[in-house]
Amino acid sequence: MASEQRTLVFNVFSSHPVLAAVVLILTVLLAPTSYKGFSGPTSTLPGTFISRWTDLSVRVRTLLGTRAQYVHRLHSTYGPVVRLGPNDVDISDVDAAREIHRVRDPFLTSEFYGVGLRVTSLFSTRDPHFHAQRRRLIGPYFTEASLTAFEDKVSGLVQATVDGIVKEARKTGCADILKWWTLMAMDVIADLTFGESFGMVEKGEKTQFADDVGMLGSILPLRTAFTIIFALGPYLPFVPFFHNIAVARERVFTVQQKRYARFMELVQADDGAKSKSIFGALVKKSGESELTPMDLIVEAQSFITAGTDTTAVTLTYLIWAVCRDEEIKLRLLRELESLPAGFKSSDVKALPYLNNVIGEALRCYGAAPGSLPRVVPPAGATLAGHTIPGDAIVSTQSYSLHRDESIFADPEKYISSFMHAGCCFADCG
Ligand code: HEM
Repeated sequence: MASEQRTLVFNVFSSHPVLAAVVLILTVLLAPTSYKGFSGPTSTLPGTFISRWTDLSVRVRTLLGTRAQYVHRLHSTYGPVVRLGPNDVDISDVDAAREIHRVRDPFLTSEFYGVGLRVTSLFSTRDPHFHAQRRRLIGPYFTEASLTAFEDKVSGLVQATVDGIVKEARKTGCADILKWWTLMAMDVIADLTFGESFGMVEKGEKTQFADDVGMLGSILPLRTAFTIIFALGPYLPFVPFFHNIAVARERVFTVQQKRYARFMELVQADDGAKSKSIFGALVKKSGESELTPMDLIVEAQSFITAGTDTTAVTLTYLIWAVCRDEEIKLRLLRELESLPAGFKSSDVKALPYLNNVIGEALRCYGAAPGSLPRVVPPAGATLAGHTIPGDAIVSTQSYSLHRDESIFADPEKYISSFMHAGCCFADCG
């Protein structure tokens, strides 16, 4: 039988020399890749057969918005360590996650963070020294004690947002709460950076700036899955897709530049802008600061990018999760009724069920559920019992960590997923 097959192949190739040449060339070209798939550094790790050669399955899921669920399914099949591509590994193990995300190296953030950016920020930098220095400057203003100084200002915007939601619901029978939380988050961050909000909550509608930020955020999956496409952007400015992105970026930058100029006028006029915002505390009246004007503009924008959708999406899911369950809603309302008139954040902080509701919204519907990629140090690492090669990209995703069945008895269930052992926010009374 084998000799018959050999004869058949010989006959086909001898009567089709071009086909034979193509097969030969492909074999020579693909042999090293094929060999690497079976003997490469991640080849011994659990994962799909195809992931030995390509991470295309994950990239496609990134584009479809189902990456976290796909990687979670892979963990259910292959265990806590799973190969996603020849150089990509995802780990769902609490101890390994602690090791990978230690603030002090050695797992540095991957290239994913700086994709398409010309100026780095606290959020996007891959340089640990830059990160440490920026954290030293900005970090102290994000402590609970420092943020309390802005409590009245933030409370005012939150109250105006809730009033807007109620008004819209009374008028139309429903309210677009994702829109309202987006307006609120963006206005609060704008106010805490350059001392003035965008006034969107007051008007109840988005500005061009908010639409531009939303559009730039919506292309993130494409940008992270197929970076190469965006490398072409500067060479193809006439293609509408790239043109619209360039125009939106320019508009966003111009808005922040104008806001910076206005902020500096306020600081120099010493009208209290210094104490009214986080950046006000960073800049001296003379305009001197350890941060350049460009640094401040880029940080202000990165806070908006990192903090708007995350906050708005989390709040939207929280409201949805509470409103669809009468028992949870009534219990929460009963607890909220115990608050004194004119309550402060310190009163709210002490409410166990409210904290439970918030913690569970972050656990079940967290707005950053996907991979946080890091580069394995050159010497390699042993994580969750597996040897991970140096320079591989190792990610963790909260979507899976938050659904760990060894920790949560009923991981998909909002609120009533008690921990197996010890205490957690989900079992407080
Ligand atoms: C519910 C809301 C939020 C969620 C779920 C969230 C999630 C995250 C996550 C998962 C990271 C880590 C990224 C990584 O290490 O790869 C992160 C970092 C960061 N977030 Fe948020 N975030 C939220 C709100 C905000 C807000 C409101 C701001 C700004 C005002 C903000 C600014 C930042 C910054 C600057 C970093 C980088 C910190 C550093 O590297 O030291 N985030 N966030």
